[in-house]
Amino acid sequence: MIKMIRMAVMGCLVALLTVGAAWGQAGEGTMPRIVEKDGRHALLVDGQPFFMLGGQAHNSSAWPGMLPQVWSAVEAMRANTLEVPIYWEQIEAQLGKFDFSLVDTLLKEGREHKVHLVLLWFATWKNGSNHYMPEWMKRDAEKYPNITGRNGRAVDSPSPHSQAAIEADAKAFAAVMGHLKEADPQHTVLMVQVQNEPGSWGSVRDYSPVAQKLFEGPVPAELLKPEVLKALNRPVDAKGTWQEVFGNDADEYFHAWSVARYIGHIAAAGKAVYPLPLYVNAALRDPLSQPKASSYESGGPTDNVIPIWKAAAPAIDLVAPDIYLSDSPRALKVIELYDRPDNALFVPETGSNAEYTRYLYAVLAQGGIGFSPFGIDDNGRGGGEAEIAARLAPVGQEYAMVGPMMRELAKWGFEGKIQAAVEREDHAEQTINLGAWQAIVAFGAPSGRTTQANAKPIGKAMVVQLGESEFVLMGTLCHFTFRPVGANAGKAWQYLKVEEGQYENETFKLLRIRNGDETDWGGPRFGAVPAVLHTMLITR
Ligand code: DGJ
Repeated sequence: MIKMIRMAVMGCLVALLTVGAAWGQAGEGTMPRIVEKDGRHALLVDGQPFFMLGGQAHNSSAWPGMLPQVWSAVEAMRANTLEVPIYWEQIEAQLGKFDFSLVDTLLKEGREHKVHLVLLWFATWKNGSNHYMPEWMKRDAEKYPNITGRNGRAVDSPSPHSQAAIEADAKAFAAVMGHLKEADPQHTVLMVQVQNEPGSWGSVRDYSPVAQKLFEGPVPAELLKPEVLKALNRPVDAKGTWQEVFGNDADEYFHAWSVARYIGHIAAAGKAVYPLPLYVNAALRDPLSQPKASSYESGGPTDNVIPIWKAAAPAIDLVAPDIYLSDSPRALKVIELYDRPDNALFVPETGSNAEYTRYLYAVLAQGGIGFSPFGIDDNGRGGGEAEIAARLAPVGQEYAMVGPMMRELAKWGFEGKIQAAVEREDHAEQTINLGAWQAIVAFGAPSGRTTQANAKPIGKAMVVQLGESEFVLMGTLCHFTFRPVGANAGKAWQYLKVEEGQYENETFKLLRIRNGDETDWGGPRFGAVPAVLHTMLITR
């Protein structure tokens, strides 16, 4: 069996080496794209599933003088994709004159480092504000207004109802995409994020006279489709004004529609020029309670309004959660909520410490297309290489292990073959069902014949099911035991072979066979450094 795997892997190897050799030179017809099958998704790069092991630069780091530190961080964490902003205020500092020099620097340096890019279009919205609009727009508040809060208050958030702003942004974004089409035949850029955490802090919606008039009008037909109303828990024949159809949610839903419609227009203008996958990131709301819209950023693609975003912005391929909720019930709920048949799961921002890194396994198991801690570079802290390496060590260790087997993992995720257990705050053991077997995962550091509890919930385990009794086990600070169930219930069993190794250049390289003390005392244990175990069980 293992020989077969090796042969299959070798087959893959030949295909992948061809791809590897062609890095940065792929031609037309190999556009990155997102595909869906049986409700699962893959990002195809060079025609094969690809998982973005990403890292995001700080907001003001995409300038040539700052990039060396960004690349140091990318190297330290062994990322295969850099998420990096591009700035409307720099690209169109003068109305109608486009300067793509920073974009070109990113393309050139990305290729030199053999790292893909996800470009973040910081434009009308950046964290809910207009701060990346060019100066000529900031100086003309009448033409490019902010929203008005209740009682006429000024709010630091652009209006989604300004026709002049929408046209200006669409024109600039189409120019960016046109430039990529010309300057990036290699497809260094895999995806583009359209805006950054759009929506509004400080007001649930715009209460300006223009917005108020729209709010008092009928709900648009796109939202009155039975499937959309059903997804929003409304009667399928509902119609009327926003207030009549959506009651207490009317203000937020109106704002979500308005923001999504605007961004959908911009995305469509860019896609018409160059059809790369496009996405929008969300500043999340608490997914487990029903918080008031005034307590989070209203109008962005929070979990409750995803159906509105889908109806309003079909040119956006996916909406993506920025996960800064470190506790596992909330983070795992978010991962579940953003993986939908109509939405590929991608985590474009999260933390880089060990508690956040455990969610990499959950995203892989959920069939996600990428994972990316935010703020990887030094950003003026002055800590130097040593600080970067120490800070990024948890995620760097994982990327070092999963990087060489990224193509296999992306394919296994797309096929639904991966399951994961991430340690919860109660440190309780977890069961993974594998047909005729159950894997019981306990968390802690190996300590002789036992396991010593982790002080923090940072353990994680992943199982890829290759055959009925054949698995790839991966993990840190955890311990696996198996139980025969179903067709194997009551049978005696043993480990047939536990091979420890690593995928290198797409082939499994054996380090040792684990046996004796390393499997006899209740099954394989994983320490602080991640490991890969090709494991076969047998009944007798
Ligand atoms: C989320 C935003 O999307 C990022 O650009 C950055 O501002 C971080 N928050 C800061 O924590």
